[in-house]
Amino acid sequence: MSTGSESTGSDAQVTRESLARRVLVMGASGKTGRALTGALAARGFRVRAAVRSPASTETVYAAGASEVAVLDLATGAGLDEALAGAWAVYHLAPNVHPDEVGMARRVVAAAARQGGQRLVYHSVLHPDDASMPHHLRKAQAEEVVRAGGVPWTVLRPAAYHQNLLPAALAGELAVPYSLDAPFSNVDLDDVAQVAVTVLTEPGHEGEAYDLAGPEVLSVRQMASQASEVLGRRVTAVKTDRRAWEEGPGAALPEGARRDLLAMFESYDRGGLVGGSAWLWGRLPTTWAEAVAAARNTP
Ligand SMILES: NC(=O)c1ccc[n+]([C@@H]2O[C@H](COP(=O)([O-])OP(=O)(O)OC[C@H]3O[C@@H](n4cnc5c(N)ncnc54)[C@H](OP(=O)(O)O)[C@@H]3O)[C@@H](O)[C@H]2O)c1
Repeated sequence: MSTGSESTGSDAQVTRESLARRVLVMGASGKTGRALTGALAARGFRVRAAVRSPASTETVYAAGASEVAVLDLATGAGLDEALAGAWAVYHLAPNVHPDEVGMARRVVAAAARQGGQRLVYHSVLHPDDASMPHHLRKAQAEEVVRAGGVPWTVLRPAAYHQNLLPAALAGELAVPYSLDAPFSNVDLDDVAQVAVTVLTEPGHEGEAYDLAGPEVLSVRQMASQASEVLGRRVTAVKTDRRAWEEGPGAALPEGARRDLLAMFESYDRGGLVGGSAWLWGRLPTTWAEAVAAARNTP
């Protein structure tokens, strides 16, 4: 007879009861949110996908969401409704958002009002790196999460392989920072796998995990490896930073542009390298493996 808490067979920690519980995913239509939504759905969890714009509904259903919550992290509108009935919450702020700390405050306060759902916060590798203001905002947001009175876990991912995969497939890695700076990039699908684990299994409360890939590579080395995997030339090109400011950077809000310029300068000095928690039970995905997988994805 089913007790409602027996093993599914594939994973002793995943119970029928937990599968029926909703996980609220913030920023579900973005790069990270889509990967996490897909990973949760693939394991049978119900995802309540939080978006700002109703126009993003189709995107999150395509990623695997079961339901959608429209909310504004910048004002808190819709947060209480979105959290009601959610068993766990994955919080991430939109990329380089100036109000990352305020967003964390609103989410933590709403979770506390609901009685304290499990909260996982998506930070970044080296949040205390003072050369990058958007990293420091994540360090402050982590403090808010730790002090909020709800059960918490923090994930600190390195830069994703996926940031550079489309460019590698297109034959040119063009970046406005040093081609020889070192990076221990991580695969976004590996990050999503760890996120599912810490959201849905016990034993991760009060932990902050760095998540980096298994190797240190420069963009020049990534281009060379991509050439080998794809069997055609992939070049590495350092683009002019002023051209970036006047081109892609000009379309961004001023604060985001400043944050990214500071990041490029920091990358020039030392890239972004770190160790990793080992929560996969296998080696995390290498850059060459990510390129090979992307080549085979329609
Ligand atoms: N890229 C990396 O290598 C990397 C590495 C480590 C950490 N991170 C961190 O990962 C986080 C997510 O990055 P991402 O690139 O995946 O995100 P993103 O694409 O910038 O996220 C956009 C998402 O946020 C939602 N959103 C925007 N403004 C909102 C608001 N005011 N209220 C509620 N939702 C709002 C959007 O909803 P709509 O579609 O409805 O607008 C969309 O779902 C960032 O904090 C970033 O710093 C990234």
